[in-house]
This record gives sequence, structure tokens and C-alpha cells, in this order.
Amino acid sequence: MIDPPNVVILTGAGVSAESGIATFRGPGGLWEGHRVEDVCTPEALARDAALVHRFYDLRRAALAGVEPNAAHRALARLDAEWPGELLIVTQNVDDLHERAGAKRLLHMHGELKSALCAACGARRPWADGLPPATACADCGAAAMRPDIVFFGEMPYDMDRIEAALSTCDLFVSIGTSGAVYPAAGFVQTAAHWGAATLEINLEPSAGSFLFEESRMGPAATLVPAWVDALLTPYSTQSSPMSR
Ligand code: OAD
Repeated sequence: MIDPPNVVILTGAGVSAESGIATFRGPGGLWEGHRVEDVCTPEALARDAALVHRFYDLRRAALAGVEPNAAHRALARLDAEWPGELLIVTQNVDDLHERAGAKRLLHMHGELKSALCAACGARRPWADGLPPATACADCGAAAMRPDIVFFGEMPYDMDRIEAALSTCDLFVSIGTSGAVYPAAGFVQTAAHWGAATLEINLEPSAGSFLFEESRMGPAATLVPAWVDALLTPYSTQSSPMSR
């Protein structure tokens, strides 16, 4: 069999757009009617915990009304069938990648279906509403908050992500505007270590010029086509790596 390249995939809000979840930087620059600074910073949580908790309660509840789309399903298929190293790093806090079946997955910006204790750092699966001052089952502090990485906080799993980027042969960014670091810098890290780089997005992202190849269009159309092409040599064992 052809030696499979190591693949790292970064996804953003664009991959879930066709499932009906609003992107962050849509028209007006508002996220579901709110400025990001009003719902996605530690200062916002300290100033108005009720607003921030309610905001994420609504986003969590809305997950029940959406389904993975063809892009999530294609990436889950790639995860299941790819014979080499693969890591899907998502900036999304929805659960659509895992509902589609993805396993080799990291949520670098946290998860709607998780709650975090601001006192002891414990993380717990969370399905329902999360009122402010909910007690932590681990340490007892009335400090449970949405498990979302706010601006100014360190994303999750950066060590694992950096390690994967430093050994990958192919880095693919899907449905992200490239506006938020450190994720926006992953393409440069991967390229520095010699990876080929591909962007799939509806429009050129802020860092589009950093990619060797860009494919513009809806993720639910372009991602299945890309996955089919990538997997073909490993099902036929006849042709070189397809990008
Ligand atoms: P953005 O809303 O900034 O960007 C979404 C990108 O997806 C845009 O470039 C769109 O053009 C593109 N897009 C929209 N629909 C698409 C489709 N059907 N197919 C392909 N692409 C499409 O979202 P992110 O880049 O994910 O952080 O935002 C990064 C982070 O900023 C988020 O994780 C969030 C936010 O603040 C936190 O919550 C910590």
C-alpha cells in the first residue's frame, strides 16, 4: 500500500453553516445578535453572568434542532477509513463532528455540551441549562460556567495540536475566516514543517495567500469531493496521493 500522509484538518463555523448554525462573522459582525465581546470574554462573564449563561444555554438547546451535513459526514468517513495519522481540530463548539461519527477529534475552543468549574478546572458533560452559580460536583464551589474558551484564554490541547502540525504532510483548513489566533497560524506552522496546505472555504479567508491551494465553495459540496479523491488511492492502491 502507498505510505499514507499524515493529515491535520482544521474546521471552523463554515463547516456547520449548511446545518443551520450561524457563523461568527456573518452580516453585521454579530453572533446571533450579540457582539462577540459581550458573550465570549471573561469580562463579559464577570459583568453579566446571567446573559452569558443564557446565551450558551440557547446555543446548547439549539443543537437538538440541527443535524450534521455532508461535510461532517465526509470527514467522519475519512477519519474511519484513513489508514494513516489523522487529526480533526475544530474551533466549533457544536457537536456535529462527533454526531457524524468523527473520533480523532479535538475541540480547541471548548464544547457547548460541557461545563467547566472556574474554581477547580473540572469539566463535565452538560446537556441542559446551566444557571449561574451552579455548584461543582467535584469541589463544591458555585462556579460552573460554559466550557467555552473565551477570548484571552488558552485554547485546549495546544500541545497535541502543535505536535500533530509538526509531523503532518497535509494541512487542510475548512470553513474558517482565519481571524482568530492561534488557529489562524496553524497553516504557517504546518508549512514550516513541510506540509502541503489546502484551504476550502466559501470565500478567500484572511490568510488565504498562505495556502498552496484554495478551493472556494460550500463545504457540503467541496469536502465530500476532496475526501473521495484523497481516499481513492487507498481503496484502489493504484495511484499517488490525491489533493
Ligand atoms: P467565522 O464566522 O469567523 O468564519 C466562518 C467562515 O466560513 C467564513 O470565512 C465564511 O466565508 C465561511 N463559510 C460560511 N459558510 C460556508 C460554507 N457553507 N462552506 C464553507 N465555508 C463557509 O468562524 P470561525 O473562523 O470558525 O471562537 O471563527 C473562529 C472563532 O471565532 C470561533 O471558534 C469563535 C469565534 O469567536 C470562540 O468561540 C472562542
